[in-house]
Parts: sequence; C-alpha cells; structure tokens
Amino acid sequence: MTVERFDVCIIGAGAAGLMTAASAVKRQKRVVLLEHTRTIGAKILISGGGRCNFTNLDVRTDRFLSENPHFAKSALARYTQHDFIALVKKHGVPFYEKTLGQLFCEGVGAARKIVDLLIDEATGASIRTGVTIGEIAHRDAGFAILTDQAAITCDSLVIATGGLSIPKLGATDFAYRIATQFGVPIVPPRPALTPLTFSGEDLAWMSPLSGVSADAVTQCGKAAFREGLLFTHRGLSGPSILQISSYRRAKDPITVNFAPDDAMPARLTAHKRERPKQKLPAALASVLPERLAFALSEKLTDPQRLAAPLGDWKDKDLTDIGARLNAWTLQPAGDEGYAKAEVTAGGVDTRALSSKTMQATSVPGLYFVGEAVDVTGWLGGYNFQWAWSSGWVAGQAA
Ligand code: FDA
Repeated sequence: MTVERFDVCIIGAGAAGLMTAASAVKRQKRVVLLEHTRTIGAKILISGGGRCNFTNLDVRTDRFLSENPHFAKSALARYTQHDFIALVKKHGVPFYEKTLGQLFCEGVGAARKIVDLLIDEATGASIRTGVTIGEIAHRDAGFAILTDQAAITCDSLVIATGGLSIPKLGATDFAYRIATQFGVPIVPPRPALTPLTFSGEDLAWMSPLSGVSADAVTQCGKAAFREGLLFTHRGLSGPSILQISSYRRAKDPITVNFAPDDAMPARLTAHKRERPKQKLPAALASVLPERLAFALSEKLTDPQRLAAPLGDWKDKDLTDIGARLNAWTLQPAGDEGYAKAEVTAGGVDTRALSSKTMQATSVPGLYFVGEAVDVTGWLGGYNFQWAWSSGWVAGQAA
C-alpha cells in the first residue's frame, strides 16, 4: 500500500470537518478529509427541514452547555456568526431570519448550497468518501493513519466525527474511541435536543392530543424556554421541549406553563365574575387551543364539576386550577434517545483541549472539533456555529 503524506488529516466530512479543511487550505496546508459514508455534510443537507438554520444572529456563550462553560468563548469570538454570514453572502446564498435570530437558507433543499459553499472553500483539499479508517498511531512528530484505501501520514490529525445522534446518517463513537486511545478524557455523552416520552396516565391524556401545539414555557431547574410545545403519540416535542431536554438529567421532572401570558388564578376568578354561566373547558379555551383546553379540564376536575357553571365554583378551587396551569409538573418516562436527538451533549472533555486551537494539550498535533467536543448549543443555529467556529480555529493552527 502506498503511503501518502499530508500536513493535515481530518476525519469526518460534516460541518466541522469541512470548515477545518477550508480554514487549513487557506494557509497552503496539504489537507486530506476522510469520510466513511458516501455523503458529504449529510446532517447539513437534512437540517432545518432542508433549509439549514446555519447560524444565529445572537450567539452568546451562555447558549452553549458544557462542563467548562467559558471554553467556547474564544473560538466563537475568533470566528463569529458574522464571519459565516459573510461567507454565505459571498457565495450568493439567499437567506432569511425565521425567528429569534435564526438564519435559514431560502427554499426547501437550499441546505445543499451550504455544503457546496464549504466544498468550494475547501478547494485544494483531497476530500474522500467511503473510506474505512483502521489503526491510528502516533509516529515521531505526527500520525500514521491506516485506511482501506491508503496509508496516510500527517503532522496534524483533526477528529471531526461528531456525536452519536442519528446513527442512520453515519454517527459513530469514533471521536470518543480516539480520545480514549490517546488518554484524552470524555464527559459521558447523552442525547440532547430530543423529544420526551411519557407513560401511564400522562401518556393516556397526551397521546390523543398528538399534533396539537401550544405556546408554552418549559422549565427544568434554572433553565426555562418559551417556544412551541407539540404533543406527539409518545409524549412531548416542539422547540421548548427539545431545548429543555438538553438541561434535563435522568429522572428530573419538568414544569410547563401552558398560559405564559396569563396569571391563570386571577384570570379564572375574573372569568367566573364576568361569565358565571360558562364552564371550565370553554373558559380555558379562551387561552389555550380548544383540544388542549378540553383535555386539561378533564385532567383537572371530575365529570360533575366539568358540567357545572363557573358561578358554582369556589374561588379557591379555580385559583388552584389556575396555578396548576401556570406550573404543571410532569415526570417524563425518558426521551427518544439518539435516534431522534438533534445533537449529543457531553463528549471530549474541553478541560483537556486548548480553547484557542482545539488541540489536545497532552497530545501535540491532535485536535477535536464540532459536536464531538463537550460543547452543545441551543436549538436555533448554535450548533452549526460551534462547528464553524471550532473548525475554523483548528484549521488556523493544524
Ligand atoms: P457531523 O455529525 O455533522 O459530521 C460528522 C461526520 O463524521 C459525518 O459525516 C459522519 O459520517 C462522519 N464520521 C463519523 N464516524 C466516522 C468514522 N468512523 N470515520 C469517518 N467518518 C466518520 N444544528 C444547527 O445549528 N441548525 C440546524 O438547523 C440543525 N438541524 C439539525 C437537524 C437534524 C435532524 C440533526 C440530526 C441535527 C441538526 N443540527 C442543527 C445539529 C447539527 O447538524 C450538528 O450539530 C452538526 O452537524 C455537527 O457537526 P459535526 O461536523 O461536528 O458533526
């Protein structure tokens, strides 16, 4: 087998690997990018329903989870959302702000344009797909990588193989295995931005509502998100649930405010005075989607009370019901796991990496970028921005 020599070998042709390649070729580095599937940028292509939410106008470090909360600051400051937006504009890709600073490409399938622009920016790099990576060894001042197609030597090795989310798109534990091989610690990975599942009585009232959505605030510990909540046949999803799932650990309950704009205890007692003949479900339907109002009414009271006009209710009972609607505690049975998680939280421990370059401090020449690293963004373009920023800084150093 022939031995090919490169300055930089990047493993994983997703968002972070492509950006690392683009950044490194600009420094005249000889770069090879190895991908085990036949598709370049598979997750970019399906992201944002094919429109790719490629960044966010309001990137801030506190919108990223990590055991080392300030780690992401340096890379995010050196390669910002505005740098990536400039790249998108340079390539003439039309985009728009959907909501909350989230920037999407115009038109279904337009995510392809983000992959194309990255491939274009990485011109000069040898991008190879369908490559099986074998043994990796540290040799002299560099690395030797055995693949089914060639033996490669390089000065710098960049691991950009992402996390465990969506195995059917090619996700593997490769980054964690390489980290372990070289003695770099790992924060245990876990699914994040994933729907929550319920069982028993909760699932019984939730599943008939499958498809119903509502504006809600979800909370877990100190984290709270106001966005859409969607009922599914297995429990809850929608942006506010995906966001809170990243903060939720093992058996944590969540709290849902189904009426974030209303103090429901006061609203219901006022409703009683204004419309004493109205019944509870109709009163709730003035604030909530009708099907949800009826389902929650049934959960909150017995059939007899359900049929009684509000004028017959004690204020205290209405106040209690109102308080519950503003802070409904729910105990998820679990989550949908890596099969549906948009990202993997945890990963290569950032305390073992340089925040300026993403290089492992104990292994010169070894870099980890993107989702493989213990930095996880909120929903809304933050995860791609982390891939661009961490990839770019690694490409400037590798
Ligand atoms: P990524 O997973 O993209 O790439 C890793 C690459 O390494 C893959 O090509 C994989 O095949 C390859 N690989 C793995 N093991 C290998 C091995 N052993 N050998 C060789 N190659 C290997 N984020 C966002 O900001 N906005 C959005 O709109 C969305 N939308 C979205 C939708 C869906 C359905 C998902 C699943 C995820 C998103 N995300 C997102 C998250 C975003 O896609 C994710 O954070 C980035 O793709 C991470 O980029 P990486 O390059 O680190 O990993």
